[in-house]
Amino acid sequence: MVLLRRLRVISILRSDRGMEKWNEVDQYFATKFSLHDEILDKVQQNSHDADLPAISISACQGMFLQILAATRPDGRILEIGTLGGYSAICMARGLGERGRLVTVEFEPEHAKVAQNNFKLAGLEEKISLINDDAIDAMQKLIEHKVEPFDLIFLDADKQSYKKYLELALQLSRAGTLIVADNVVRRGEVANPATEDEKVLGIRSFCDSLEKKPNHRTTVLQTVGSKGYDGFSVTMVGKA
Ligand code: DHB
Ligand code: MG
Repeated sequence: MVLLRRLRVISILRSDRGMEKWNEVDQYFATKFSLHDEILDKVQQNSHDADLPAISISACQGMFLQILAATRPDGRILEIGTLGGYSAICMARGLGERGRLVTVEFEPEHAKVAQNNFKLAGLEEKISLINDDAIDAMQKLIEHKVEPFDLIFLDADKQSYKKYLELALQLSRAGTLIVADNVVRRGEVANPATEDEKVLGIRSFCDSLEKKPNHRTTVLQTVGSKGYDGFSVTMVGKA
């Protein structure tokens, strides 16, 4: 018993040290590659001051999304789950003159903070925020036959990811990238016995992708200031 307890303590200590290291490395690269600036820092500060949950993507992840956006500079981006607007700003910065981003947020308080942050970032012309339930909003976009999106970023409630995927595919064309945040969940995604609702949501999202062999999918596992998690990246294939 004592030995078991000691082993558990050691493993907790080790994982804490691991996380500290991940954080340090995230900071190292964010500084090295100038991934923070006054506006992004203020955006995060505003979100913090408004008591939004501290779950936005990291600076390194933000640049990853910005680079994806920049591969389609005249493109259209759809984001599900705006939070305080940090990721939308990162992506919108990758767009050129004609590129546009639509972001959907359910929580009115989050939407308010995000809209203010878009203004602060000088991006309110490029970004349209829809304050609505994401499924309703996506269904409306489908009904209105909007032009397909080039990049879709899913980052809202994990329980609905499967539904978001189904709707995202209807808003896509061949070549659209669908990126989903938080698909690893500290590795719990690979635990078939999980009872965590969020992980179950991710697992059924993955099951849906498994049945779509004409779309290419991979997952980039990540560690860093956001702990151990990851992005899935799907390139939509021909219908
Ligand atoms: C959670 C949600 C997120 O989008 C995230 O990046 C981290 C955690 C959550 O709901 O627990
Ligand atoms: Mg997330």
